Amino acid sequence: MHIDRFERYWLVIASAVLGAFFAALIAGAVIFGVRLPSSPGDFINPMGLSLTEFANPGIYPSLTEDNVYDAYIVARMWRFDIGSDEKDELGNDIVRLPVGARVNINVTSADVTHGFLIERHNVNIQVIPGHIGRSTVVFREPGVYRLLCHEYCGRGHQQMHSMFIIEEE
Ligand code: CUA
Repeated sequence: MHIDRFERYWLVIASAVLGAFFAALIAGAVIFGVRLPSSPGDFINPMGLSLTEFANPGIYPSLTEDNVYDAYIVARMWRFDIGSDEKDELGNDIVRLPVGARVNINVTSADVTHGFLIERHNVNIQVIPGHIGRSTVVFREPGVYRLLCHEYCGRGHQQMHSMFIIEEE
């Protein structure tokens, strides 16, 4: 079979690039210990959340630190369950916290993959059933910040949002 000289060069170059990427992947995993960002404790049975730390979703003040909170949030079609008594007109939870609040977020899904994004803050989690997403957010400025599902999760996706209202003390 005749292969043009330039075609042959490019085949060699493309194979070398693929080989280099594959070697980098192996070196990263074996030599540098690069792993996906989850640990065994971050897995959970989405059918049995009532037996876990997500049994009573809510935002719980830290027992030791001032203005620090541990949040346990369950995403399900089509709302975030944050355990709030206050709701908006769609029944979505509204959370009120004082300015400066540091919230350690733990979030999981009871059904399908959802998104978890707090606008104007550095929190962006893909909420996968069977996994626990963790992050920390500090609300430095008073204001209203929406919590949005930004992964399409079915026909109610666009109404799946909650609200953090950060108040001056
Ligand atoms: Cu939940 Cu989109």
